[in-house]
Amino acid sequence: HGYFTYDPGFMATASCQSEITYIDGDLGILLYRGYPIDQLAKDANYLEVCYLLLYGEAPTAKQFEEFQRLIMRHTMVHEQLSSFFKGYRRDAHPMAIVCGVIAGLSAFYHDPMDITDQSHRETAAHRMIAKLPTIAAMAYKYSVGQPFVYPRNDLSYAGNFLQMMFAIPCEDYKVNPIVERAMDRIFTLHADHEQNASTSTVRLAGSSGANPFACIAAGIASLWGPAHGGANEACLTMLEEIGSVDRIPEFIARAKDKDDPFRLMGFGHRVYKNFDPRATVMRDTCHEVLDDLKIEDPLLDVAMELERIALSDPYFVERKLYPNVDFYSGIVLKAVGIPSSMFTVIFALSRTVGWMSHWNEMMSDSKQKIGRPRQLYTGAPEREFRTQVKK
Ligand code: CMC
Repeated sequence: HGYFTYDPGFMATASCQSEITYIDGDLGILLYRGYPIDQLAKDANYLEVCYLLLYGEAPTAKQFEEFQRLIMRHTMVHEQLSSFFKGYRRDAHPMAIVCGVIAGLSAFYHDPMDITDQSHRETAAHRMIAKLPTIAAMAYKYSVGQPFVYPRNDLSYAGNFLQMMFAIPCEDYKVNPIVERAMDRIFTLHADHEQNASTSTVRLAGSSGANPFACIAAGIASLWGPAHGGANEACLTMLEEIGSVDRIPEFIARAKDKDDPFRLMGFGHRVYKNFDPRATVMRDTCHEVLDDLKIEDPLLDVAMELERIALSDPYFVERKLYPNVDFYSGIVLKAVGIPSSMFTVIFALSRTVGWMSHWNEMMSDSKQKIGRPRQLYTGAPEREFRTQVKK
């Protein structure tokens, strides 16, 4: 028993070295390749951030143009992939569909891919970043019974996603620039977050040399849970369940009750013991979008009051439980007409660049080994086997 460090939940174990993202949870700092998240959310667009995460430096105007062209060239999916969707029930959760379809992509891009070759890895990353919005929108269209909408490569990354979600063949569709900007910002804020559960899953799956599309499907599975990416959907469900400001004390009391499994969704974080810097940006975006679209959402009043009460309650103060990014993202997504079952899919779409950047970083490391945690065995000691089954 003395040989291994026992660290359930990896509270104090660094599983790798990485140059991609830095978090100081006590100070509430998040940097992508050295750049503060609030600056990127304000001044960069999502594809610029993708380039930065993948290649380590922000693109020049020329590099950006070339990168955008490359990504947008890969937005279509093989026509055969559309038949994958038809195997699912109409009411299937979009995360289940996306997880399955992305795993299916590995069958389209397997043999000719050499994952030891940097240029093949980059192409895999471009394909993933380009195809996630298409597949995400197809999952939504399938659920509402509308025809799939093909990508439009003359639009921005976020604009194209919105048109694939909301355009219908018989009507004109114009992307609202405010919604487009908010969407782009949501993508940027979720693009990477160092060694969280889903990224660690992608790294672990990839460490055996597995197909990267299958590794991303593993990451999507890990993201789905309500303690991770599923929190944005769970948070909106919770705000709807609370419904009005006068019911907040009841839910605060439940969150504090150790015999009740209920937790305030969108509150707390393994690493941030201070304000989640992404939440600060998301909060501003949330107000901008609701103001611009002239939406009065009573859920926002519930959210603001919940935040105010929780931040002054000793239970949350002592445990350093602050609102995280998902506390506000759901309200924005709801305001722009996206159903809550799609929230975690949008998180997956945004995080794909982070997963691929980490996978690529790991595969580029010549000292990379297969991930193989050890355990503390607590089962039966060695004993003699005598069959109890009549032969
Ligand atoms: N509501 C009520 N109590 C909480 C909450 C919450 N949201 N979060 C943590 N606590 C309490 C917890 O009960 C524990 O109390 P005690 O010390 O008395 O036993 C203490 O705070 C520490 O919590 P923990 O579970 O040991 O902390 P963790 O680091 O293992 O969990 C977490 C982090 C994010 C899973 C947790 O805070 C949580 O479940 N939050 C709600 C779900 C959520 O919003 N997740 C999204 C995370 S941000 C998006 C992403 O990056 O995935």
